[in-house]
Amino acid sequence: FSSAKKITLPEEFMVIGHRGASGYAPEHTIEAYHQAKELGADYIELDLQLTKDGVLIAMHDDTLDRTTNGIGLVSDYTLEQLKELDAGSWFNQKNPKKAKENYAGLQIPTLEEIFQEFGNTVNYYIETKSPSENKGMEQELFSLLTKYDLLEDVATHQQVIIQSFSEESLHLIHDLNKDIPLIQLYNFDKSAVLSNNQLDAISKYAVGIGVNYASLTSNFGDQIRHTSLLLHPYTVNTAKEIASAIEMGATGVFTDYIKETR
Ligand code: G3P
Ligand code: CA
Repeated sequence: FSSAKKITLPEEFMVIGHRGASGYAPEHTIEAYHQAKELGADYIELDLQLTKDGVLIAMHDDTLDRTTNGIGLVSDYTLEQLKELDAGSWFNQKNPKKAKENYAGLQIPTLEEIFQEFGNTVNYYIETKSPSENKGMEQELFSLLTKYDLLEDVATHQQVIIQSFSEESLHLIHDLNKDIPLIQLYNFDKSAVLSNNQLDAISKYAVGIGVNYASLTSNFGDQIRHTSLLLHPYTVNTAKEIASAIEMGATGVFTDYIKETR
């Protein structure tokens, strides 16, 4: 991926480092978040799963197979067991040209470790994954956000955004704190379509929506422009696609390749 032409980002456009800087480092590792921060991402994006003993960790899949040397469901393992796993070598094997020695042996981070590492030096864009299987994750997330003082001035400062495909999960968060900005995620099979009534309903609890990039159309972007909702397509990985997303009305993008926005 490389771009000849520089993109001009609209004011207040959000560059969201998808799973950290996951195009350059093993996703959902402290190293991937550091790289996202260093590359100037406005937010680090992270997905949450719950361990067998109820600890929130950062991982996209509900199984270990793709991004660690473990097998099976995350929820079948305690944190202590998960900490034994190597969450970096898969990246080196899959991407030999980007491989780095220090990626081998990286651990799965807990959400608490991430907050301890970065505190209020980054903004967090956090997804509650599979909330119907991961019961209680919203309360646990809320407790940690409170413990690490990340909800102070959240309405104006937006240091934390919470996203989910589950409306129910977002309502649980909204009930805990009405000021936390929420993003309702969608994955459309074809073109993105939501009625104005649906958009009105979303506006009552969320500040924006996230849609798969392939579903984004100019018509849909125009419709969203007439609301106060943010529009964050995922996952937009080339400069050309990022420019096109902006043209269609995106107010931010989830990207694995933060350098493409520069
Ligand atoms: O959270 C936005 C985007 O990340 C949703 O897709 O599957 O990468 O979590 P996924
Ligand atoms: Ca996500």
